Amino acid sequence: FDQPLPPLEERPNVLIGGPFSLTDQFGARVREADFRGKLMLVYFGYTYCPDVCPTELQTISVALEALGPAAEQIVPIFITVDPSRDTVALMKEYAANFHPALRALSGSREEIATAAKAYRVYYAKSASEDDEAGQSDADDYSMDHTAIVFLMDREGRYLAHFPSATPPERMVERLRQAL
Ligand code: NI
Repeated sequence: FDQPLPPLEERPNVLIGGPFSLTDQFGARVREADFRGKLMLVYFGYTYCPDVCPTELQTISVALEALGPAAEQIVPIFITVDPSRDTVALMKEYAANFHPALRALSGSREEIATAAKAYRVYYAKSASEDDEAGQSDADDYSMDHTAIVFLMDREGRYLAHFPSATPPERMVERLRQAL
């Protein structure tokens, strides 16, 4: 992990990333191509996630803060895997807890599926614990999902990834190499 990033031509041909078209927390349409020229940190999750998602988004926020002005070259992107509950309004409220540059993206089921497929991200509704009692609330469920932060280069190509629970200092180290 601590080795420098290999030059692009020596990088393994990892098929992660690709076009998406979604809506940010201010209601603006956003295409993946809009971020060309900047590094992207891409993370998929959902606002009702009790633990992992807030931790990952906090790690991204802390890492970007630590980078100072250089962080302006990096766009942190949070894409919901729970579009039925994560409305634009809710994403706006949620994103306010994290770095001010965070783009919190939602969209239709199809749009989310396209983005997740491009990043090889798995997600699925998890069975409600109330199911056995027959009292399942349609809006009370959790999501299983891949919890990896992807680092993409200025052309939108895969550079590196951070498994969940990566300490912010490690993320900073890696980001410095990529800048
Ligand atoms: Ni989560």
